[in-house]
Amino acid sequence: MPLYQTLKALNSARSSYKGNALGVVPTMGALHQGHLSLIKKAKHNNEVVWVTIFVNPTQFDKKDDLDKYPNSLAEDVAAIHEISPDINIFAPTASDMYPKGLLAITQTFDGLDKSMEGADRPGHFDGVITIIAKLFKTLQPHRAYFGEKDFQQLQLIKKWAKEQQIPTSIVPCPIVREANGLALSSRNAQLAPKQREEAGFIYEAMLHCKNNCLDKADVYSTIKQAFEVHPNFDLYYVLCAEEDSLKEVKELATANKPRLFVAASIAGVRLIDNIALK
Ligand code: PAF
Repeated sequence: MPLYQTLKALNSARSSYKGNALGVVPTMGALHQGHLSLIKKAKHNNEVVWVTIFVNPTQFDKKDDLDKYPNSLAEDVAAIHEISPDINIFAPTASDMYPKGLLAITQTFDGLDKSMEGADRPGHFDGVITIIAKLFKTLQPHRAYFGEKDFQQLQLIKKWAKEQQIPTSIVPCPIVREANGLALSSRNAQLAPKQREEAGFIYEAMLHCKNNCLDKADVYSTIKQAFEVHPNFDLYYVLCAEEDSLKEVKELATANKPRLFVAASIAGVRLIDNIALK
């Protein structure tokens, strides 16, 4: 399996492909079935696929969160190999990606970054866009695959790519869930088995809102009540927002593509999820 660990090696491998069907799946490793679904989709739709594995330091606002982030390169390589041994993997070091130090470019996103993850994690999206810009610049992908679990990230990347006139199609991929409904995330591995099982209540409450709540006040109180029954979990935010603007809906009934967003934590592990309400 082609594993590249320096930008120099990546550049030389990339320059040998002259076609127009190169797909990239950017990841931070610790791959789960959600990532693997993106990689399978990329493999199905492209001639050449690159998976990047890089725990990007500039998108972490807390050092202990970065230090705790799981790292499992050997297992990740094996899982990708099982999908197809010809998928290219790029797993660089921080000094290769940031030769001048860990600096993120400050971006403006017309307010898309002001709520939710952007508000709770200062500088997070500057770090995400900085690394995506570096990866796109070298790989020049025709398609790039991102999971809808990080829905705000997906919308920001779409907006940035459009504004910068980057000729890469941004392909959204649906959330993959554990049997109890918990959205798959590399962070789930940091939960104790009991916490992981209990965390299924978050999606259950969100589904209940989708199927039963007629206005946003009802959604907010349903989610808050669900967290009151699970006091080990802290609710960071609950928001009904329109998909494209990420602005809070005025009325659920008249909103354009309303989506429910929830962020929470248990024992210091951050969990986020979202669901289309219509
Ligand atoms: O979603 C992620 O795993 C990361 O934010 C990404 C897109 C790979 C950038 O580091």
